[in-house]
Amino acid sequence: MNAFTLPNGASMPQLALGTWLIPDNQAAESVRQALLCGYRHIDTAQAYENERGVGEGVRTSGIDRKDIFITSKVAAEIKDHDLAAQSIDRSLELLQVDYIDLMLIHCPQPWAEYEKNPYRYPTENQAVWRAMEEAVQAGKLRAIGISNFNQSDIESLMQTARIKPMVNQIYCHIGHTPLDLINYCHQSGIITEAYSPVAHGRALNNQQIASMAEKYGVSIAQLCIRYCLQLGMVTLPKSTNPEHIRQNAQVDFVISDEDMKSLIKLVD
Ligand code: A2P
Repeated sequence: MNAFTLPNGASMPQLALGTWLIPDNQAAESVRQALLCGYRHIDTAQAYENERGVGEGVRTSGIDRKDIFITSKVAAEIKDHDLAAQSIDRSLELLQVDYIDLMLIHCPQPWAEYEKNPYRYPTENQAVWRAMEEAVQAGKLRAIGISNFNQSDIESLMQTARIKPMVNQIYCHIGHTPLDLINYCHQSGIITEAYSPVAHGRALNNQQIASMAEKYGVSIAQLCIRYCLQLGMVTLPKSTNPEHIRQNAQVDFVISDEDMKSLIKLVD
C-alpha cells in the first residue's frame, strides 16, 4: 500500500481503517480483519470509546506493533493543557501501547459548538497543542496533527507551535470536497486525511456516482475511496463488514483526470 513520509521520518499508510461508531467489543475483530487484508493504519479517537478494542485487535493480530500505524485523537471537548496530557496517558493505557504514531486534536471546538459558535478556542487549542508537543518530547506520541481545522484555526495554532501540525483530518467525499482547504494544507506541507469517504454510506444511493463506478467496473465505495486517494489524501473508510473491509483495500485502478474534475464539482 502507498504511504506518505511524515516530517518525523515515519511512514504513514495512505489507506486506514476508520473506526468511528465501531463498538469497543467489535473493534478488535474489525481491526484484525483489516490487518489481515493488508491495512497497516488504524484510526481511532478518545471519543469513539473503542481504543481498548482497537489495541486488543493490534495486539492479537500477530503483526508487529511497529509495523502498524495507530492514530488517535484528543477529545474535542478537552481544551486545557493538563486535561489533554492526562487524556493522552489514558489513551496509551487503553490501547496498551508504549507510543501512539499520530495524535490529533479532534476538533477546534467542542462538538456541541462546532460551526455554531463564532469563538474558535485559539488559545485553548494552543494549550492542548503544548501538551501534545510535550508528549512527543516524552516519546509517548510520534507525530501530532489536527482534525476539522480550517485555515484560520491552523494559522492561530501556528503562532505558538514549536512542532508544526503534520496532518489535518477533514470531512471529504464525492459531493463534499473542500478543495481550498486541501490545497492550503498541501501548500503548507500538511498532509490531509479524508474521513467518511463514503459519506457515511449516503454515496451508495447516489445515481451519478453509481454510473461512474459502473464505468470503471468497481463498487461505489471503491470509487469513493479511490477519489480521495487521488486527491492526495490519506483515506479512512469505516466498515465492520469483513467483505467490505477487504473490498475497500482493492482500489488499484485510476480515475481519469477528466472524471476527477467532474466528480470534484459534485455537491451533496
Ligand atoms: P458497513 O460497516 O456495513 O460496511 P464512511 O466511511 O463514509 O463513514 O462510510 C461508512 C458506511 O459505509 C458504513 O455504513 C459502512 O457499512 C458502509 N460501507 C463501507 N464500505 C462499504 C462497501 N464496500 N460497500 C457497502 N457499504 C460500505
